[in-house]
Amino acid sequence: MWRASVLTIFPDFFPGPLGASLAGKALAAGAWSLDVVDIRTFATDKHRTVDDTPAGGGPGMVMKADVLARAIDATATDKRPRLMLTPRGMPLTQARVERLAAGSGVVLVCGRFEGIDERVIAGRRLEEVSIGDYVLSGGEIAAMVLIDACVRLRPGVMGAAASGVEESFTAGLLEYPHYTRPQLWEGRPIPEVLLSGDHGKIAAWRRSEAERLTRERRPDLWAAFLARSRGRPRTE
Ligand code: 6GU
Repeated sequence: MWRASVLTIFPDFFPGPLGASLAGKALAAGAWSLDVVDIRTFATDKHRTVDDTPAGGGPGMVMKADVLARAIDATATDKRPRLMLTPRGMPLTQARVERLAAGSGVVLVCGRFEGIDERVIAGRRLEEVSIGDYVLSGGEIAAMVLIDACVRLRPGVMGAAASGVEESFTAGLLEYPHYTRPQLWEGRPIPEVLLSGDHGKIAAWRRSEAERLTRERRPDLWAAFLARSRGRPRTE
């Protein structure tokens, strides 16, 4: 079974949204598992201290290497990748999500305070991962994002929508626009072509809309898409 272990000082955050909707149903059905490890339970002093002032001075607090290392050593006894969620990590990509989803699971360390003692990152070989160029107050929500992205790819978790065919066909493009009844809503009609019953024309329209949206909104993705399809003419 695909297993996510989350190390955090806020265990109450979990399962949170991962306990609802598709991921939650799959969790309840035993399609994946979540264990949440309270880092604080690995503190040894009376006050269960997990942080201390930064060496060299400055604002905020730093998570102690010894406490976090004990939590990791008690949890990551198998071969799962160990990731630390932090805005300074390498960006998470769908390709990475696909590789993680295809494995046996993940061990996720949620950063908090101003940071984590650098020595535990090196000493326990934590791979730092970011979910985007903005700063969250901690890694917990980022961990949920990563887990959700992986779990939806596991067999039987989502229906046809996530399963290969359609997604791989449009890989690297943004999604085309969707419509459903009524045919006219607040003066806005559903595009004629979608009501034509001509599946070839519909596929071509969706494809060109996906390309237009990608070009307009994500020049970075569009450039990568063009680079990949260059010298590889479309067959459809
Ligand atoms: Cl992974 N953690 C935090 N705290 N902030 C982030 C992030 C992660 N990714 C983007 N911002």
